[in-house]
Amino acid sequence: MEIGLDLGTSSVIGLLCDAGVPRAEARRPLTTASPMPYASEQDPEDWWQAARAVLGELVAPLPEARRKGIKAIALSGQMHGAVLLDAAGEVLRPAMLWNDGRAHAQCAALQQALPEIGTLAGVPPLPGFTAPKLLWLARHEPETHARIAHVLLPKDYLGLRLHGGYATDPSDAAGTLWFDQAQRRWSGDLCAASATDPDWLPPVLEGAQVAGQILPRLAAELGLSPKLQIVTGGGDAATGAVAVGAVEDGTGLISLGTSGQFLLAGNAYRPNPGAFVHAFAHTLPERWYQMAAMLNGARPMAWFAGVSGAEIGALLQEAAEVPETRVPLFLPYLTGERSPHGDPHIRGGFFGLEDSTSRAAMMRAVVEAVAFCFADAVQSFGPAAQGLAPLPALGGGAQSDLLLQSVADASGLSLFRPEGATSGPSLGAAKLAALATGALSRGDLARRPEAREVFTPRAPAALQDRLESWRALYRALKPLAAPR
Ligand code: XUL
Repeated sequence: MEIGLDLGTSSVIGLLCDAGVPRAEARRPLTTASPMPYASEQDPEDWWQAARAVLGELVAPLPEARRKGIKAIALSGQMHGAVLLDAAGEVLRPAMLWNDGRAHAQCAALQQALPEIGTLAGVPPLPGFTAPKLLWLARHEPETHARIAHVLLPKDYLGLRLHGGYATDPSDAAGTLWFDQAQRRWSGDLCAASATDPDWLPPVLEGAQVAGQILPRLAAELGLSPKLQIVTGGGDAATGAVAVGAVEDGTGLISLGTSGQFLLAGNAYRPNPGAFVHAFAHTLPERWYQMAAMLNGARPMAWFAGVSGAEIGALLQEAAEVPETRVPLFLPYLTGERSPHGDPHIRGGFFGLEDSTSRAAMMRAVVEAVAFCFADAVQSFGPAAQGLAPLPALGGGAQSDLLLQSVADASGLSLFRPEGATSGPSLGAAKLAALATGALSRGDLARRPEAREVFTPRAPAALQDRLESWRALYRALKPLAAPR
């Protein structure tokens, strides 16, 4: 047996599996703080306490022999975060997360210093990425910057607490802007341009490579085998891809979680920096993927349910009944946007509200906006996104029929909901653990889930007009959101 441990943004999820087949799941919620405009932070100690509780809940009910039979834990996690540690491995400040937008001025500086950065590092500089955050710290928190001895990605901090060593994998290294994607190694030039000593960065292992053995006192505390191996794992986009076998050329997925993704795997590095498509190393050797990464995913739906005080399922049902002609437009950019705009300043907004507009109509606009983001994503991939087989849809948002049909209609993609859609990254991590222990083969990891109940695009003509109005709304509001 093996465990996939996913450090998400809203929760830590542990999935106990038997050769990649889920047996039990445990979750602990996490909260995010925004102590200043553009900031998004979490305390790594909270991650660790949540992870420990999740592991405890998963293994405590097992008889001793089964508990001792757990061979490996592999990691998955939110990408791009900066976990800063001193020489003793102590955390220096709260982690700055993937959706932290403070380092926008540093992105412009990086782009100017290294005009070819988008092609080398997989995407032009974006403020949520790790390297611009170090530049920001050098400027705004120089005392903290001066004490940095190690920088880790979020999941790798859990690795440090589990096995005591420093390591990462290519897919998480890929989201830092310090990684030479084609060569799959840290780049001295990218470090030099971003106030980063390459010695601070951990060794890059493969995703299914063992990073270390569980620390003895932790094994004793949880009743686990002292030989249990901690497998490096991957960034959550890559582990989500592994969960649904998106590892060979042209296989992909969409994800509708706190963030949103349209991802296609490939056996070559294909940068496409123009529309902020991310071209990243995959967590398996000799594989890369292209990904349109949307900062807001299905999160605006939960946001709107929260502010209108309604239960999201009931609100979605109300929204499905609304006549499409009475729906306003909504820009879903609550935390700015990456693909296709690379715009940290834009914010959300409704347009076209009438005296008669109901909350159901507003929710319908929110759903439609999430779907329109995928139309933009498909457009930025060009021909690579045409004629694809039905894609699995992961994440909490994939539970909504209304959202899946809306995404299919707006983007032209055929979609289906694979089994276990909400626990994609933890399942992908568990599969990497199973690959490391030999319980699964590389061929097993490429197996695609069965496409049942496919949502096929209906592409009503009126939708195209609304999509064009929605795109025009962004263009109109962009100058208003930019700092003056
Ligand atoms: C990918 C991305 C998200 C985060 C949070 O580029 O930013 O997947 O990892 O889930």
